[in-house]
Formats: sequence, structure tokens, C-alpha cells
Amino acid sequence: MPLNENSLVYRFYILRTKHPWQMRLILQNIKELVQVDPKKRLWVAGKSMAKLNTIKNAFLIIQDEVICDFGPMEKLGIEPCDSDDMVMELDCTGRMVFPSYCDSHTHLVFAATREHEFVDRINGLSYEEIAKRGGGILNSAKRLHEMSEDDLFEQAMIRLEEIASMGTGAVEIKSGYGLTTDSELKMLRVIQRMKKHSPLLIKSTFLAHAVPLEYQRSRKDYLNLLINEMIPLIGAEELADFVDVFCDRGFFTMEETDRILMAGIKHGMKGKVHANELANSGGVQVGVKYNVLSADHLEHVAEEEISALVGSETMPTVLPGAAFFLNMKLAPVRKMIDAGLPVAMASDYNPGTSPSGNMNFIQSLGCLKYGMSPEETIYATTINSAYAMGISENYGSIARGKVANLFITKEISSYAVIPYSFGSNLIETVILNGEIQ
Ligand code: NIG
Ligand code: FE
Repeated sequence: MPLNENSLVYRFYILRTKHPWQMRLILQNIKELVQVDPKKRLWVAGKSMAKLNTIKNAFLIIQDEVICDFGPMEKLGIEPCDSDDMVMELDCTGRMVFPSYCDSHTHLVFAATREHEFVDRINGLSYEEIAKRGGGILNSAKRLHEMSEDDLFEQAMIRLEEIASMGTGAVEIKSGYGLTTDSELKMLRVIQRMKKHSPLLIKSTFLAHAVPLEYQRSRKDYLNLLINEMIPLIGAEELADFVDVFCDRGFFTMEETDRILMAGIKHGMKGKVHANELANSGGVQVGVKYNVLSADHLEHVAEEEISALVGSETMPTVLPGAAFFLNMKLAPVRKMIDAGLPVAMASDYNPGTSPSGNMNFIQSLGCLKYGMSPEETIYATTINSAYAMGISENYGSIARGKVANLFITKEISSYAVIPYSFGSNLIETVILNGEIQ
């Protein structure tokens, strides 16, 4: 994204140029620096999610890809950063600065959109009915099988650019539209290539997503294929950071999920689960048993699941885009927060249930559908979602030493205007790894 010269005043100068290749970027006169966290919390839970730390009329200095200092404007000048570099200043008058969104749950490598199923649902079919006739995930798997690795890569890179322009700086991407060994490896290789070519931080996940039609009568054989062939190969090539299972009615059972998670963990992946989207699947409990990083969806969550999550290291993650798009029952987010849990939100960007990676809109849905406050949605889409992808030590808040993944808004009246202006993109400038995009 080019720097908007009309709206952000910028200037270059060189202090004592000892290392001309080093650049310091100083953001000045920031109307409000949002989600400041000097304590470097790894997540924010319960009542604390309602209190957001910000600094009004602030500065922020970036050096060597990291946030090296920030504070109120009157303290600018008394700074600890090395001052021997080329300096670029950006005047952010009227604008706010946020840490980039961390989108901890996406399926953004896919071959084709599925608007026909969208129309089928408008005409009365349910998501599960469409899946049973070979639509849904199986439809995406067929199209993915036919598409080359290069084409998948190019299409997915376009989606990455789009989400970056809407404020996302780190993203988790799942396989799961492959289903066969070859196609799953193809998807994971595409994600591996994206890691090398994109300025976004990317984490990859092997997802056991559905049982292909030809294995419906011999599920055991498919389980064997997953556990004895796919997972060991993926582990050996280090193609996935995480292993995830769609533990739900009509997909994988609790027992199957248990075996798949155990195998993935044995081969070096950290666990995640898609759980309780369609029914009380037991997915949350099996996930907590394996200490998974996150349990995602959670529409069908009762007291039992909430107590399993309390005191665990698993981040409850809700995906309001999918709930909105499928007109689903809503996850009981208020109950979870009232129980003292942290909550993360992610886009679930995928062609079947959430064809958008716009995290600003996810914040709007958090406020409008779950009754979250703007402050809670900011934590849910930054530090808590960073935890859900294992990166909250270095991403997800404004703290010294964290990677400088930030965005600068257009001129806005308050941070609540982001979820309020659903459908708009109020982001003017994106900075990733300290560089203006
Ligand atoms: O997270 N819930 C399972 N999987 C995906 C969507 C699958 C699809 O329909 O393509 C999800 O919503
Ligand atoms: Fe998903």
C-alpha cells in the first residue's frame, strides 16, 4: 500500500549516519496510541478485557523492525533508541495507531468461491444438508485437487494483500481442503511458500477437516491414513506448526479427534480444535485434555465446556463471521468473559462459511452480535488471537521490543468508530516489520 502523501506529512533526515542502512521511523502527534501494554501480558481475560490502555497525543519509534519506544509527545527526545540512523518522521495528527490484527483462524488457501451454495442456503437448504450431498468441504477439496500449486499460491497471495490492507499483520492458515495425502501436502507447501514471500507473519496448520465420500464406509482406513501417513510426512517435512481437527456432528468424533491430536503432537505440532460449531461435540474437553492452543467456534457451549476451559491454557476463540454467514446460534461470549475467561476472535476466512478476512467487520460483529464492548473486541482481535497462534510474546500489542506490525487509521473521532463503521476500511497506512507497505 503506498504511503498517502496527501494525508500523512512525512519527512526524512539523517542524524549521524553511521549505519545508513538502518532506518528509524518516528510516528508523531498520534491522536491515540491504542492497546499499549508495557507488562507484555500474554493474554487478557475476564473483566480486564473491558479496560484498554491507551496514550493520547503520543509518539512511537520503530527501529530494526521492532517498537523501540513510545510515550506521550512531551517525552519525545528523551529516548533510549540509538540515534545514529536515517530517520523518517510521520505526522499522525488526527489519526490513531493500533497493533495489527492477528487472525488466528483462516482457510485462505482455496481454489474457488462457493456462491452457488450461498444461493442454495437462501433457498432453504442447510449447511449440513449441502455437505451431505457432497457440497461444502468436499466441493472445495475437488476444486483444490484440480488446481496447480502455482495458481493456488497466486490467488492466496492476493487474499493476503487484501487482508493486510484491512489491518491484519499475522495470520494462521489451515490445510484441510486437500483430504488426500498429495493435496494436503500441496496446500501446506503453498502455505510454506507464502511464509517466505509475504511480509505478514504466517503460521500453518494441518487440519483434519472431513472424511472423503469414498471412505465414509471405512472411516478407520481414513484415520489410519491420517495418522500413519499424512501426519508423519507433514512432521518430517516440518510443514505445519499446528494440528487441528473438526470435531463436530457429521465430521470427526471425540475419539477420532483424540487420536489425531495425539499423532500430530507426537510429530511436533501444537494442537488446536474446531469444536462445538454444530453440536455439543465434546471437542472442547478433548482439546483441553491435549492442552491445545485454542478451541474455535464454540456456538454449542454449556457450563461444562466453560468449566473445562477455566484454568486451562486453551484460548476460547469465536468466529462471528461464520456464525453471521450461516445464521447460527451465537457462542455465549458474555458468559465466557463473566466466567473470567479470555476470548479471541478470528475471521475464519474460507469460501463456505465466512468469505471475508476483514477483522474490522469481525469487531463490529463482536459488538453487535455478542454484546462485547469495543475494548473487548480490540483485545480479542490482537493479543488474545496472537496467543491463539502462539505469538503473543512478540505480537498483538504495543510494547517495547515487539515486532512493529501496526496500522495508522484515517482521521477518526474515537477507536469505537471502527466497529461502529461496519463495512468501511478506516485504515490509511499499514506498517509491517517496521516498514510502510
Ligand atoms: O471453520 N467448520 C469447519 N470448517 C470451516 C468451513 C468449511 C467449509 O465449509 O469450507 C469453518 O467454518
Ligand atoms: Fe475453520
